[in-house]
Amino acid sequence: MNTDFANDVIEGLSSKKKHLSSKYFYDDIGSRIFQEIMNMPEYYLTDSEFEILSLQAKQIIAAVNFDTPFNIVELGAGDGFKTFKLLEYLVNNEIEFHYVPVDISQGAMDSLTKKLKEKLPNLSIHPRVGDYFEILSKENVQTDIPSLLLFLGGNIGNYPEKEAVNLLQLFNDNMKKGDALLLGVDVKKNPIIVQNAYLDKHGITKRFNLNLLLRINKEFDGDFKVDDFDFYCHYDPISGDVKSYIVSLRNQKVALKKLDVMVDFKYDELIWTELSKKYSLEEIDVLAVQSNFKVVNHFLDCKHYFTDTLLIK
Ligand code: AVI
Repeated sequence: MNTDFANDVIEGLSSKKKHLSSKYFYDDIGSRIFQEIMNMPEYYLTDSEFEILSLQAKQIIAAVNFDTPFNIVELGAGDGFKTFKLLEYLVNNEIEFHYVPVDISQGAMDSLTKKLKEKLPNLSIHPRVGDYFEILSKENVQTDIPSLLLFLGGNIGNYPEKEAVNLLQLFNDNMKKGDALLLGVDVKKNPIIVQNAYLDKHGITKRFNLNLLLRINKEFDGDFKVDDFDFYCHYDPISGDVKSYIVSLRNQKVALKKLDVMVDFKYDELIWTELSKKYSLEEIDVLAVQSNFKVVNHFLDCKHYFTDTLLIK
């Protein structure tokens, strides 16, 4: 049994305000639903970041200004290839570098490596499976060549602000002087555009959230009936917080047999599942200062929906 998940489920569902962490969305089915989300036209984050990395790879690498060879260490690379355009630019221009994708999923790393070897046979790729910080402290600090870290996709938005600063500070602690971090952040914008990206009309994001209940059923022999739950999310354009919830549609009891737990839900009771925080550029500057980085540049897409912000230690 995955004991961290078990403990978090017990704690989250026995709290007065029920909550479950979005980090548990990504089992095999959840990862597939997330791919569907990234393909939705409403989910502008993926297209915006793709545009930035496609059209501004040259400018990003010029701003990084490293001697060659250097490392590109991608944290949470997954099995998709967000970074393909950046890697392609470097390979095609014969700029010497090593690509080190890092992820907790062996399967994701295997499939990414296979795809990239086919598309970019000259790429020097060294995948690593495991915890970001163990890998960074082992591989990054003990090498003389400079590293560009990538933390893309707007993943930083899934952490409350204080935790986001702590995470960035941890990255910073594991970087050498002069190393750089390219941080993908979703930017505050017309609230209707943000709302539509999460409250999509085909209900894919709803399926993504309810899959967490199905995962709990599978792993802990639970009897959640997903039809008795709905999905709601709300964007607050002042704080920039998108908060996602699962809603109980009736008074009900759910047994999680393997955990020896019975959970009571009241009519309309909520489980908070996710934070997807949006920032203004000024707020990103503050995050950077708080975690001891200097901002080199915000690389924005043409609509100014998303930024890959370059930070230097
Ligand atoms: C992975 N993360 C940046 C996504 C987000 O936008 O918060 C996850 C997601 N949740 C709902 N749609 C996409």
